Amino acid sequence: MNTILETADLYITGIGCLALPQPFSGGLTGESVKVYKDVWIAIKDGRIKRIGPEDELYPPDSETEETPHFDADGALATPCLIDPHSHPIFADYRQSEFVRRCRGETYQQIAAAGGGILSSIRGVRNSDENELSFLIFERLDHWLDFGVTAIEAKSGYGLSLKDEMKSLRALKDAAEDHPVEVSPTLLAAHVVPPEFRDNPDGYVDLVCNEIIPLAAEERLAMAVDVFLDDGAFNPQQTRRIFEAAVNAGLERRIHADQFKLGEGAQIAAEFSALTADHMDYTDEHGIELLAESGVTVVLLPGAVFFLGLDRYASARQMIDKGCRIALSTDFNPGSSPTQSMPLMMSLGCIKMGLSPAEALWAATMGGAYAIGRHEDLGTLLPGYQADLCLWEAEDIDYLPYAYGSITPEFVFKAGEIVGGNMASSLEFE
Ligand code: NIG
Ligand code: FE
Repeated sequence: MNTILETADLYITGIGCLALPQPFSGGLTGESVKVYKDVWIAIKDGRIKRIGPEDELYPPDSETEETPHFDADGALATPCLIDPHSHPIFADYRQSEFVRRCRGETYQQIAAAGGGILSSIRGVRNSDENELSFLIFERLDHWLDFGVTAIEAKSGYGLSLKDEMKSLRALKDAAEDHPVEVSPTLLAAHVVPPEFRDNPDGYVDLVCNEIIPLAAEERLAMAVDVFLDDGAFNPQQTRRIFEAAVNAGLERRIHADQFKLGEGAQIAAEFSALTADHMDYTDEHGIELLAESGVTVVLLPGAVFFLGLDRYASARQMIDKGCRIALSTDFNPGSSPTQSMPLMMSLGCIKMGLSPAEALWAATMGGAYAIGRHEDLGTLLPGYQADLCLWEAEDIDYLPYAYGSITPEFVFKAGEIVGGNMASSLEFE
């Protein structure tokens, strides 16, 4: 009898198809997601212990009878999805702006008229920490519905020392008791707040000298993000903020090239950023820089789609040049109010030319790189955390194909069932 099997805590048997994204090895290829038919998985201490074929070493006999078994009933098993770019710390949704956009106003016009990000700033400033924490907790629950068990989450609607700290504390509080793991980011540099309209550099001083050091000291953020854009921060300000992030020992992330080509790729490479996000207008040179410097590019097709735009990131060229890519929802109340990672996989295929296997890689292993957790999350190889989804699907192609309609039947976090549309009918054999 195999001792590894004897000591397992749980067997998931009857897996019809298992998708195993592979760690990044310099490029995405046809080998980046390996697929196995008819297998079982042994889990021990919340981690993958072993994977075996159904017709061999099948564990229910002999000594392992006492170990719980979960029958996957022919399901597709994938790692849980990872959403590495989100803005969940806000009070109200902004559907009235959606109505205005349906009537022809643009996102930028609405922002210039005091709506957009500014309206969410008013909402956060008028909410207390407990109210925000409650809302974030509900949103974390909703991520589970889509098979997501790890996210990156940004502040960015407080934009004062007090309100950014309140946002990050609310996030920490919500995440403490929730199975979805949260990687927190300080996005104090989202836009210049109204009270600094005539003194944007004064706001950059506040971000660099007070907000970043305090967030780092209180361990409320792992990274600092900057929105590099005409309506937000310029390259010089972005560099100052990134220098402060480096000095505080925090990772760098950037929102760039969302509406036009800028210096985002250059700055991300210069500061060894963990991720460069949006990058819809990034050109060949920028893509080469991102590939060479090992910055993970976070693709956000939902924001392009929901704003009714047509310029999607050049994902094919990024893959050809050897970029590491991730997919994400960009969940926020303005440009992308969805938490559906399966839908992002569909948009990645339809709008960016990804194959279903590439989209799955980007939504799992790619996301793990984008939150710095690639040695722990993003695949189901032995030793990785047992975060896995069971889907009523024959193969991985079905996931992006069933656009907007598929959710996982069961979601396991570290070997425990924490969600899924069939979780209430839970049955151990
Ligand atoms: O990632 N680009 C900047 N910020 C968000 C939108 C935030 C909002 O509209 O509230 C984004 O798209
Ligand atoms: Fe964003």
